[in-house]
This record gives sequence, C-alpha cells and structure tokens, in this order.
Amino acid sequence: MFGRRTAEAPKPAESAAQKPKAAKPASPAPQPKPAQSAPQKAPQKAAAAVPPRVAAPAKAMEPIEVGGRSDEYFKTKTMIFNALIDTIDLSQLGQLDTESAAEEIRDIVNEIISIKNVQMSIAEQESLLQDICNDVLGYGPLEPLLARDDIADIMVNGSSRVFIEVGGKIQLTNVRFRDNAQLMNICQRIVSQVGRRVDEASPICDARLPDGSRVNVIAPPLAIDGAALTIRKFKKDKLRMQDLINFGSISPEGAKVLEIIGASRINTLISGGTGSGKTTLLNCMTGFIEHDERVITCEDAAELQLQQPHVVRLETRPPNLEGQGEVTMRDLVKNCLRMRPERIIVGEVRGPEAFDLLQAMNTGHDGSMGTLHANSPREGLQRVESMITMGGYNLPSKTIREMIVGSIDIVIQAARLRDGSRRITHITEVLGTEGDTIITQDLIVFEIDGEDEHGRIIGKHRATGIARPAFWDRAKYYGREAELAAALDAASE
Ligand SMILES: Nc1ncnc2c1ncn2[C@@H]1O[C@H](COP(=O)(O)OP(=O)(O)OP(=O)(O)O)[C@@H](O)[C@H]1O
Ligand SMILES: [Mg+2]
Repeated sequence: MFGRRTAEAPKPAESAAQKPKAAKPASPAPQPKPAQSAPQKAPQKAAAAVPPRVAAPAKAMEPIEVGGRSDEYFKTKTMIFNALIDTIDLSQLGQLDTESAAEEIRDIVNEIISIKNVQMSIAEQESLLQDICNDVLGYGPLEPLLARDDIADIMVNGSSRVFIEVGGKIQLTNVRFRDNAQLMNICQRIVSQVGRRVDEASPICDARLPDGSRVNVIAPPLAIDGAALTIRKFKKDKLRMQDLINFGSISPEGAKVLEIIGASRINTLISGGTGSGKTTLLNCMTGFIEHDERVITCEDAAELQLQQPHVVRLETRPPNLEGQGEVTMRDLVKNCLRMRPERIIVGEVRGPEAFDLLQAMNTGHDGSMGTLHANSPREGLQRVESMITMGGYNLPSKTIREMIVGSIDIVIQAARLRDGSRRITHITEVLGTEGDTIITQDLIVFEIDGEDEHGRIIGKHRATGIARPAFWDRAKYYGREAELAAALDAASE
C-alpha cells in the first residue's frame, strides 16, 4: 500500500515528485545541494544558516532579584536556621507528615524570632518561615524558581551562582544556597526520590522532579566549584504550533507545510542545538497524527504530551546502584518493533538506536519522528551516519547513506538565535544519493534581514521556490497537495 513504505514497493510510472532513491531530484530550480560534499562554496543563502555568534564584549552580569531577598535577610535567615537545627531533632521531624513538620518548624522559628528579638515585618517573617520550611522539607532556595512557569532552565553553579533562562536569555539571579553542603543536600534530596544517590563515589546523576522537570547533577570532585545542578523545567502548558507562529518561530505558511508533513506520514528528523526547542517542536508535530494511529514514544525522560488516545509511552532506565538493570534507548526502540506500532517517536536519538529507528522508518512505520543534536540539516544527517558507525555496525558508508536516504524524508532545523529567540531555520528534504553523497533540498529557510533597535533579529521564512517537493505524491495521497502548493506559493512571496 502506498501509505506504507516497503522494500519492494512498486515504483509508480510517473515518479516526478517521488523520492528518487539514487537519482537526481525531479524538482526544478533551485539546484539541490549535496549533503556531504567537499567544502561548500558560499552558503546558498548566507543569512538562512544559523547566524554566526557575535562576540559581545564581556561585561559583568548583574544578578536579577527573585523574591526580593536582601543580603541582610540571608544573614538573618542563616542565624535563625542554625538556631533551629540546634533546637529540633531532625530524625523525629522526618517521622511527621509534611504538613505537621511544617507546623512544627513554624512554631519553633516564631519562638526563635521572639527570643532573639529579630526585627522584621510580618511579610518578611512570612517569607522567612516559608524559606526555612523549603530548606528543611523541600528544595530550599530553588522553590521560588520551581514555582515559576516562565523559567525554561535553572542552572546552579555551586552554592552562590544560580542562573535562569527566561525568554531565551540566561540571567544570573540573587538566589543562593547557604553553602555547598546545603546545595549537595538538596541535590541528594532530589535524586533520592528516584532511588539514586549522588556523592563522591557516584558523582553524576540524572533524575526527575515530581512535576516532570528533568534534572542533572554533577558533584565534586568532578565539579570543581561545588555541585552543578541543571534543571530543564517541565512546562505544564506545552507550546502549540499556534504559539510558535505567534512567537515568529515559524510563519503560518511554514506551519502549514509542517502540518502536511505530519499528517502525510513523512519520516521526520528534528535537528537543533541544546535547548533550541527540538522537543517542543516534536510535541507540536505529534499533534498532526491521526487519532486512530497506534503511536509508541521512547524517551529518556518523558517530556512529550501526545493528545491521541492510542499512545504507549516508554522511558529508558539508568542502571541501579549496583550498576544493573539498565534499559537503553536501543532496547526500547527494538522492543517497539514487536509492539505493532504505526509510528515510532524517539525523544532524542543519540546513539546506536539510530540504526533501529532508520530500520523502523524503512519498514512500514511511516511518519516516525525523532530529534537529534546538530547545527544544520546536513550535520544532522552526518550525525546519524556517525552514530550508526560508532554503534559498531560494520557497514560501508555508502550503504549507511543509502539507508539514511531511504528512511528520512525531511529534516527540520531548530535554532536558538543570538537574541534568544527560537526559530525553525530550515525545512529540508532528503532527496537521494549521487555517488556517495546525500542530496538535500531546502524547502523553507529563515532568512535574517537584520536587527531592530533592541537587538532583536528581524527575518522572514521564505520558500526557496520548489513548487513540487519530493513528498508531493504522498501529500496527494492524503489529499493535501492543494494546501501544500498554496502554502509554498504563499511562502515564496
Ligand atoms: N519556539 C519557541 N519559542 C519560545 N520558547 C520555546 C520555543 N521552543 C521551545 N521553547 C522553550 O525553550 C525551552 C527548551 O525547549 P525544548 O525542551 O523543546 O528544547 P530542546 O532542544 O529539546 O532541549 P534539549 O537539547 O535540552 O533537549 C522550553 O522551556 C520551551 O518551552
Ligand atoms: Mg529535548
């Protein structure tokens, strides 16, 4: 059947827009460009690529206030906290439920405040009580940051430097831990929830907060200036394609093309740098999957939120304290194939599972998707090749490339630009091979026209003039070819 790609699928007679497996692309100008060619000449449209990083003059970062805590406040809090620790029996406190423990702490802290005759306003006293409860029972100084939904990442570099990413920009905050011991304590509290331990003996650990946020801890002696804690906040309200359009991450026409790609079951790879919005985009793309399809997702930490009713979610597992019981992404993807999936979605492809995903894409699981770290569509395809090579498959590179070309139809590139904005910079087709080289063709690129007076990048998503993309026939099969033509036409203006 047309909707399922099989090895011996009959080639339609009129194959103008069909994906040529080892042939020249049929589409008219502009000429496709080789994916693995020798040094490229000037980039096709200079501005379309990820822009060069401008070396801004180094300037000291002023910490931004979170919760309006002053130096004086931190001193008072440390003094009261120490008095509290001297007073209470922590092991007894541990036997109480959270509410009673918080009540107990509040009573004692109020007593300490009056005995020591500390002068503070009611509001300050309330924040102090809250902060101390957070320190003893919760995630301490991280709590106010965790409570905010506008923060994308929290990055703690030792006890006194806490950075956050808001609106694509990284900012230093005035949040700090009492000392490195408190920071380690909180790291330990986070990872112990998933049955793990972080200390000198096992100083690297991945974990997840109860709200779904992704956590990585690397402790001393590997982290030289105190534990480094990185949290990718889980966004309760995931961004949707309409939000991406509103932010200018993609144009309405580009979004339409993406919708047709998702609905026509085109195998898609989403490529991008760290935090460029790959997972968010993947989540949006899954929104175009029909409700009657059986979808299986494989992730390291479940981030995707598919709305379809027929979804099986799988998650990898790190080894336990004895180094046993690990379940890798490759195990999951391989197992998926025995679960009768129609589409397989891999959160992040970073190792030998690339081979299994390509196999799946090639054997009737059309419309499978995955993300990977790379700075351009071409680099993305090269990474797939090197992941397969490094996975120990002894295949000639020509075979691997043919496999890539036979599996991946579209690469979507996400990027975080220097002004902090996240954009889809390329929608690129994988056409075929010419000799040893993979041929790709950009359909839509983000062209940078300049900057406004606030340093924000101005640009436009433009179609490159391809009227009939290689997936035209598939779009036609799903009855979407007229919309595709209209979207590409509108994007060319
Ligand atoms: N187009 C966008 N506009 C604004 N914010 C975005 C956009 N896409 C993603 N974000 C936000 O950026 C943050 C990172 O997004 P996401 O997790 O999708 O990135 P990623 O590329 O998957 O990161 P990683 O490499 O760590 O897996 C999230 O907080 C997300 O809400
Ligand atoms: Mg991601």
